[in-house]
Amino acid sequence: MSVWLADEAATIEFAAMLSEALPADHAGWTVLLEGELGAGKSTLARAVIRSLGHAGTVPSPTYTLVEPYELPSGNIYHIDLYRVTEAEELRYLGWNELDDGLRLVEWPDRAPTLAEHADLQITLVYEGAGRRAELTGISDRGAELAGRIEHGQQLSQKIN
Ligand SMILES: Nc1ncnc2c1ncn2[C@@H]1O[C@H](COP(=O)(O)OP(=O)(O)OP(=O)(O)O)[C@@H](O)[C@H]1O
Ligand SMILES: [Mg+2]
Repeated sequence: MSVWLADEAATIEFAAMLSEALPADHAGWTVLLEGELGAGKSTLARAVIRSLGHAGTVPSPTYTLVEPYELPSGNIYHIDLYRVTEAEELRYLGWNELDDGLRLVEWPDRAPTLAEHADLQITLVYEGAGRRAELTGISDRGAELAGRIEHGQQLSQKIN
């Protein structure tokens, strides 16, 4: 399924919907954020982190690779693999230890093996002045979540 995001505000609204669709205990969930430079991956990640209760700034993880958030709703790891060149580096990053929280991953294609272990892939595509978000469930629970978001979208379109 795909969702049209006319502007940044629409991306933030979509992130809020995604956050609500996630289970209350989202430890161990992995969401891959794909898209070209400037497609809106960080905007989406930042809005999810804020929707799940973080009030402060959300610095870019481009250089630190991982930015952790300890929130009452659970841990979140905002991960940016842009500078990662080999899957090997995932080990240095401590990927396996980050399973007690929600992993939001920008540039997941840097580590192709990740895709097998993820739950949901969101690809942001430039379209006119806005973006299109394409949702793909990878795991069973990810597919179920994508289905619920699609259902929610259809309902809101009927209402508007
Ligand atoms: N739906 C949208 N329509 C138009 N512009 C948007 C939309 N969503 C986000 N933007 C804008 O896109 C720009 C780039 O956003 P962002 O930094 O989130 O991209 P990114 O994919 O993380 O980039 P990078 O590849 O550098 O990590 C921002 O200026 C943001 O306001
Ligand atoms: Mg980014």
